[in-house]
Amino acid sequence: MEHKQLDQFPKDFLWGSASAAYQVEGGWNEDGKGISVWDEFVRIPGKTFKGTNGDTAVDHYHRYKEDVALMKEQGLKAYRFSVAWTRIFPNGRGEINQAGLQFYIDLVDELLENEIEPVLTLYHWDLPQALQEEYQGWESRKIIEDFTNYAAVLFETFKGKVNYWVSLNEQNIFVTHGYLIASHPPAVQDPKRMYQANHYANLANAAVIKKFHEMNMPGMIGPSFAYGPNYSVNSDPKNVLSAEDAEDLNAHLWLDVYVFGEYPIAAFKYLEEQGLAPTIEAGDSELLKAGKPDFIGINYYQTNTVAFNPIDGVGMGKMNTTGEKGSTEESGIPGVFKRVENPFVERTNWDWEIDPEGLRIGLRRLTSRYRMPILITENGLGEYDQLTEDKEIHDTYRIDYLKQHIHAIQEAITDGATVLGYCTWSYTDLLSWLNGYQKRYGFVYVDQDETQNGSLARYKKDSFYWYKEVIQSNGEKR
Ligand code: BG6
Repeated sequence: MEHKQLDQFPKDFLWGSASAAYQVEGGWNEDGKGISVWDEFVRIPGKTFKGTNGDTAVDHYHRYKEDVALMKEQGLKAYRFSVAWTRIFPNGRGEINQAGLQFYIDLVDELLENEIEPVLTLYHWDLPQALQEEYQGWESRKIIEDFTNYAAVLFETFKGKVNYWVSLNEQNIFVTHGYLIASHPPAVQDPKRMYQANHYANLANAAVIKKFHEMNMPGMIGPSFAYGPNYSVNSDPKNVLSAEDAEDLNAHLWLDVYVFGEYPIAAFKYLEEQGLAPTIEAGDSELLKAGKPDFIGINYYQTNTVAFNPIDGVGMGKMNTTGEKGSTEESGIPGVFKRVENPFVERTNWDWEIDPEGLRIGLRRLTSRYRMPILITENGLGEYDQLTEDKEIHDTYRIDYLKQHIHAIQEAITDGATVLGYCTWSYTDLLSWLNGYQKRYGFVYVDQDETQNGSLARYKKDSFYWYKEVIQSNGEKR
């Protein structure tokens, strides 16, 4: 629908930006930090683009004051970051490592002194390696207790200081990449194991949210889900059904569990038929229902256009992790759906479809189905950036991208969605897990590359100044 006039952004709208510990911090073995599964994984030859790792990343661990000063200069209202579990508990549990905890106490204080709302993510993929070795991490029920105890330490520490909490970042991505595609640790290719690990992650997520509420924490908590609304390639009913299957298997399979504490009917029946359904034990359903989030966090990058895929059709295809446009291979689930190109949208050099309207569609779908506030915890454009001789970065393409997505959010708000805030991905440039440093997302350029010998100096991109005005005008000027 087209509105004659758009509603204004709410006065307290969180104009923010985001990062994740492994991608920015560096200091991988400092001050008592333990080893995470990513610290191990990046050392296996061939796993990441040109063998890049986050040992130094963009050195936020040592430069967080400089980074927060830039946020302040820009007028940022909220900064989403994640805590590295291994800084708090080097082995996943046991004695607290005070030096590691202190880093986050200092970071949060620095943010608060500069009037920036901290948005704390408890888990952004860097599981303690010790837990992986001891009981295979997410493949054991033991993770529920350890994750809850770790979270409780952070709740206790930051009660009254941190008001927005993200439980798990993109559970749908870390389980599919970790246990199906094998592109993330522990690099397993086994759908049965994936759905079981996913079930334990659901329980851990619910347990942590339940704990948050039991501790009477002020503020709100919710998971961040990687949501790409699914479209049918055309009106052929068999393709329309495939798109519904995709929405069920790619989205409701997680979001229904978060919000309703129940798996969606058709998707779960399908998993049972395939012999892939997780074992659900007595008490699980109660726990899932007892961990209802306060908001849904979404990380939105693109939509997913699908067509019917016969039983002998395509399976998992290669992803583009090189920045060579057009190198993504077709992929799908045989007998269900396959992803096809959407002819109506542009693509990035990493073949990610640029679809601002899809964000509005997504916000509306989630609002209708779940009737909950939504926090956009990630959205942004990963592209090559050029540092000029004058140390400037003219990223008009990023400004265009963000501008269109902000417009889509305003339209969704006018449609009736409650959107708490917008955290762009990312604040500074950072390490992209599989794509090295050449795929840049930040408002702040960091001199770092695949050789990992950059000066780590920070330079403000054109988008930095543009977002500053957006924030100042509460989204009016863009
Ligand atoms: C999200 C993650 O999946 O997308 C981020 O939460 C990630 O950690 C971002 O960096 C962009 O993905 P990529 O592969 O371009 O780095």
